Amino acid sequence: MMSNRSYFSWRHRRHNFFTNIASHVVKLSILFAVLLTCRALQASDNKFWWGIATSPYQTEDPAGSDFKTDWDLFFEAGKLKEARGSGVFSYSEVDRDIRALKELGVSHYRFGVEWARIEPSPGVYDELALDHYLKLARKLKSAGIEPVVCLWHFTFPAWLANLSDPERSNWLHPETSAHWKLYVEKVVKLFGDQVRFYAPENEPNGQSLAGYFLGSFPPGEKYSLSLFRKSVEASAEAFNSAADIIHTLNPAAKVITIQNMIAWERPWWDITGYMMDLGHEYNYSHLDLVAKKADWIGFNYYYKLKVSPFPNPRKTHPEGMEVLIAELSARYKKPVIIMENGIADHGDEERQAYLTSHLAALERARKAGHDIRGYFYWSLIDNFEWAYGYSEKFGLYSLGSRRDQLIPKKSAELFAEAIRKDRTQQDASQKN
Ligand code: FCB
Repeated sequence: MMSNRSYFSWRHRRHNFFTNIASHVVKLSILFAVLLTCRALQASDNKFWWGIATSPYQTEDPAGSDFKTDWDLFFEAGKLKEARGSGVFSYSEVDRDIRALKELGVSHYRFGVEWARIEPSPGVYDELALDHYLKLARKLKSAGIEPVVCLWHFTFPAWLANLSDPERSNWLHPETSAHWKLYVEKVVKLFGDQVRFYAPENEPNGQSLAGYFLGSFPPGEKYSLSLFRKSVEASAEAFNSAADIIHTLNPAAKVITIQNMIAWERPWWDITGYMMDLGHEYNYSHLDLVAKKADWIGFNYYYKLKVSPFPNPRKTHPEGMEVLIAELSARYKKPVIIMENGIADHGDEERQAYLTSHLAALERARKAGHDIRGYFYWSLIDNFEWAYGYSEKFGLYSLGSRRDQLIPKKSAELFAEAIRKDRTQQDASQKN
């Protein structure tokens, strides 16, 4: 007969044996689930991305938050024809926007975080605003749409703007670099594993030109090539520090650049090629300084333009997008992605033609074998178009008479159809 002691130690061993097995089973299932999720994520990342791009200042309503940006100051100084006001209510009407995104069938949504809203005064963070953006990312994911977050889309908190001293304003403000790093850290920690794709900056080259040469963006300086260059360098440094922070805090995350790229045309009188060099500098000066730290090279493409000090018409030129895809692929040997493309149109005819011709150019570039990962249309809704106010209409939707209502244009259906067609083709080719 078993003694009491050996009976208990046998029972104890048997208990240990079963708990060990159970704990191995649990560990294995967790590992298996993680592997499956990674494979599923990889598979969805490898699919061509179809997306919509937006920005916070152009679309959001202030929604009771107490903050100001450099653009609000610019308007107050009489430098803009129109204020952004309530945007198109994208802050309060998140569900409305997600419904439209689902209707379109996009796989990715590029939205921006408004720095000034999150940090209304230096070092003071608005928890409600932070929570709003986290909820937005979560809602998108549960709708099956991957968030792509842009950390800076032209606007600065007003406390980093100094319109009377452009040399110490925006990227050139002596406090910007230190606050920027803390802000980036805050946002990346906030999103945790909910966000895997970040674009630290939108068109720093375009903003530097408009802010320091054309005078149409804050801080409103004109004809200063040297401040343009300083701003390009300061924003490149900021990009690189953001990329380091993102990669350290979230090693799975990918960092994407967003430059404004123009298909430059040489004017007949530019015999020395000086103007073309300036065009080249506009496209590449920032990118050359940040490409090493970026995982993907993203760019916004809209039109062809003559490099000239005199105003001249923007020309629709889909082939320019193809040429730039090839140029960027060869120059940096990294995946390339279109982060914005679109046209302002009061009706919708021109937009439909533009979309059709640019999707065809994209198709040609994909067939040519370039490593091109996705295409984002600009934009979801007609919105506040910076210096042009609400007069330029880029949306696939317009705002309805009620703020929770969006009216699709024909081009929205055209885009949705292109996405459906491509998805079916991709699924079929994956099966084969
Ligand atoms: C791009 C900007 C975007 C929007 C479109 C039309 O240059 O990034 O905010 O204004 O132009």
